[in-house]
Amino acid sequence: MINANRLDTGFMKYQKEYEQAAIDVLRSGWYVLGKQVEAFEKEFAAYLGSAHCVGLDNGLNALKLAFRALDIGEGDEVIVQANTYIASVMGISMNRATPVPVETDEYYGIDPEAVKKAITDKTKAVLVVHLYGHTCRMDAVMGICREHGLKLVEDCAQSHGSTFDNRSSGTFGDIGCFSFYPTKNLGAFGDGGAIVTDNEDLDKKIRILRNYGSQKRYYNEVVGENSRLDEIQAALLRVKLSHMDELNAERDEIAKRYNAGINNPLITLPPVSDRVKCVWHQYVIRCDKRDELAEYLRENGIGTIIHYPIPPHLSQAYEYLGYKKGDFPLTERYADTVLSIPMFNGMTQEEQDMIIDRINGFK
Ligand SMILES: Cc1ncc(COP(=O)(O)O)c(C=O)c1O
Repeated sequence: MINANRLDTGFMKYQKEYEQAAIDVLRSGWYVLGKQVEAFEKEFAAYLGSAHCVGLDNGLNALKLAFRALDIGEGDEVIVQANTYIASVMGISMNRATPVPVETDEYYGIDPEAVKKAITDKTKAVLVVHLYGHTCRMDAVMGICREHGLKLVEDCAQSHGSTFDNRSSGTFGDIGCFSFYPTKNLGAFGDGGAIVTDNEDLDKKIRILRNYGSQKRYYNEVVGENSRLDEIQAALLRVKLSHMDELNAERDEIAKRYNAGINNPLITLPPVSDRVKCVWHQYVIRCDKRDELAEYLRENGIGTIIHYPIPPHLSQAYEYLGYKKGDFPLTERYADTVLSIPMFNGMTQEEQDMIIDRINGFK
């Protein structure tokens, strides 16, 4: 069986380096907010081309703290693409702000035209999500935010290293939010997250918020949280970050083989804008007979996942927003037809060839 995702093969690529990094932290006697987190923050900010990075405990809390630091809360509206993982929307609503979903574009990102139409006098920010590793149309979105005085937050949980016009995702908005959940392109060995920003005040604010609202121990300026990245995760992330370009290049090779090999007319391949470097967090195909295809592949020893079968506006959690089926037809059509096929570091060429062969054999 080839699973849709696999983490041990990625670990084994640099096993010695990871093990050494973990042992060094274990032996150091320092486990929270120390040299490793500090070094990772500097290295990740430099990798992206951002001025500051703050290591956090997960991607959801990165989003939550981003909106909190921007003073967005009750009575404020935040525009977000309907076609996303539900955590994006939760980062908004956990601050008691109102998520306003808008339709997606053909690259599964936010549709800038839909953003324009959704702006009201309560709109305070736009949250873009670079889904599947493909950067959103940032020139258009930035133009709209500038024109209307809106804050811009980027959900980069799936886009470590992706670019739009050669600029890294996470560096366009006021704040870029990252997840280091193990399956992510830059995945930790447990939970992790970060924000990046060029704004010194926001950097400082989020540093304080992540640590009980204090800069100096026992001097608490605000009611903060405990939202810190561990030393051990930071040390492991530093190892992976040093190989990030190789890891993303390997995903790109897999995507190229899929693009060249899959020729079944029942399948739509992932579209990529020529202004974007996609980092292939997922390789997502579409098929009108999606459920049959998934079952056929399972019978042929190939695992798949649906990212995502229920868009947030149709989830039970967001029933209170009052949306119904049919409100975002393209997003809903994607939810009914998308299928993520295996994409992970360490996949063999034989595995890729078999996947291509089986997909082409589906009728
Ligand atoms: C688009 C998106 N946003 C946010 C998150 C939340 O990240 P985390 O799992 O680290 O909380 C994820 C991943 O789970 C995600 O895919």
